[in-house]
Amino acid sequence: MSISDSGVVTSEGLQSPDISEFSEFPASWYRLCSSDAVRGKPFARDVFDRRLVAYRDQTGDVVVMDAICSHLGADLGLGNVVGDCIECPFHGWKYGSDGRCREVPCATSPPDFAAQRVFPCEERHGSVYFFNGPEPTFPLPFFLDEAPQDYCSIDPRGFTAPCSWYMVNAHAFDVQHFLSVHGRRLLEPLEVDTPAPFARRSSYLAEVLGENYYDRILRWVINDRVRITLTIWGGTFAVVTGDFGKRKSRFFVISEPLSDGHTRCEVLVFTPRISSRIVGPVAERLMLHIRRWLTTAYLRDENSGLGSPSYNPLSLTENDHEMVKYFQWAAKLNSNQDNQRCKRH
Ligand code: FES
Ligand SMILES: [Fe+2]
Repeated sequence: MSISDSGVVTSEGLQSPDISEFSEFPASWYRLCSSDAVRGKPFARDVFDRRLVAYRDQTGDVVVMDAICSHLGADLGLGNVVGDCIECPFHGWKYGSDGRCREVPCATSPPDFAAQRVFPCEERHGSVYFFNGPEPTFPLPFFLDEAPQDYCSIDPRGFTAPCSWYMVNAHAFDVQHFLSVHGRRLLEPLEVDTPAPFARRSSYLAEVLGENYYDRILRWVINDRVRITLTIWGGTFAVVTGDFGKRKSRFFVISEPLSDGHTRCEVLVFTPRISSRIVGPVAERLMLHIRRWLTTAYLRDENSGLGSPSYNPLSLTENDHEMVKYFQWAAKLNSNQDNQRCKRH
């Protein structure tokens, strides 16, 4: 590695990108809401610098589209579901699942401009996800080589990180902080690979040395060694596995960039399904609550203990070379023109 006027250069000739090279709202999967929120009435909330609405069509499938009506800007989230359509509360324009206006009261046909932008969406484990782009560039992530139907989940818990989405997810490649922040001493060198297009993964074996209560519980009840993988999809969607011998930890941290430059992080934990019909549901629920409590506490403590970290390509050092490579990768993800178009309508 060497240092130039514009920052550190890795042995592969990579240089950390300028802030302007990162997408503000990357083309990736995000969690919009719980499945329960989309029953009967539409559900709307602000996402990025826009407002999105979700509703169910007559087949029960969820539709996600822009919530601000193409007529005079009323909020479709305050409207009604009528058959396969969502009806605007202001003048009653009705939009179908393709976003086209199907009916304008008192008019023979809707005007050409009467359409809402629709987002690809998927429902899984009680959550509604959408892709910020015209077509998903990668499938809704899950744990590699594992099947969603073998797991169950619970409502997420979250926190706001006072930094950008790429600083949040650079943690997966920030070797220096594994010990100083997380009390994890690497027993082998960090491995980094790209297991699929739009995915970058770090893997390591570590000794659990932390002195906080959750690490003491881990060492006492489970194991003092852990093999961790962190796979970052689309730059924002972190899929995390921790294998403590026979015990396994499985969770997502989904980063949603906010319009003020900060990042909303949602932590979604999973546990394997238990086949027993009698004790299964109760045991699964109990495990999910314990996992959610421990995982969220671990991540929230880190978040509240660091102030407001900020990205500066000029201040990275040779020890940060895996982060430099992550930043390069993350900045290039959205260079596809189609996805750039999705940043703003
Ligand atoms: S503002 Fe939606 S129909 Fe007029
Ligand atoms: Fe971290």
